[in-house]
Amino acid sequence: MHLHKYEKIWLMFGVGSLVVFLLVIGIGAFYKGTHPQSQMTTIDPQNVEANEAFKQENLGLTKVDENKYILNVVASAFNYDLGVDEEGAQVKSIRVPKGSTVLFHVTSKDVVHGFELAGTNVNMMVEPGYVSSYETVMEKPGEYTLVCNEYCGTGHHLMYATVEVYE
Ligand code: CUA
Repeated sequence: MHLHKYEKIWLMFGVGSLVVFLLVIGIGAFYKGTHPQSQMTTIDPQNVEANEAFKQENLGLTKVDENKYILNVVASAFNYDLGVDEEGAQVKSIRVPKGSTVLFHVTSKDVVHGFELAGTNVNMMVEPGYVSSYETVMEKPGEYTLVCNEYCGTGHHLMYATVEVYE
């Protein structure tokens, strides 16, 4: 069999690209390991309540200091659990004063969800087994929609909540 010179070059290029690709994937996945951003905090997705932050009574917004808040959220298909109000109804919106520092702690009980506060720099991937955390200052007053931006099933579009920043 006779191969044309250019055929050889392109064949070598193709095989070379494949080897490079496999090396990158292999090193990334097995040697370095791929982790979500807050790889330090792991959690049992079957028992998120074992973590103090995700106990039912600690979910939602907690004021920890003057202008400082923590928001603990458990994501699951197809809901963001922000705790319950005095009447026992699911909280769907929270309010913080302008200029507040908010530390978000989020985990998932089942599949991968997103946690994007549209119009802000809050945008996390929420993976079962990990706690995703992010702290930000809510400078601009307004009503922000929290949306799931990772497709998680038939009720994906039903996953939302609102965060209001008031003057
Ligand atoms: Cu949760 Cu999409």
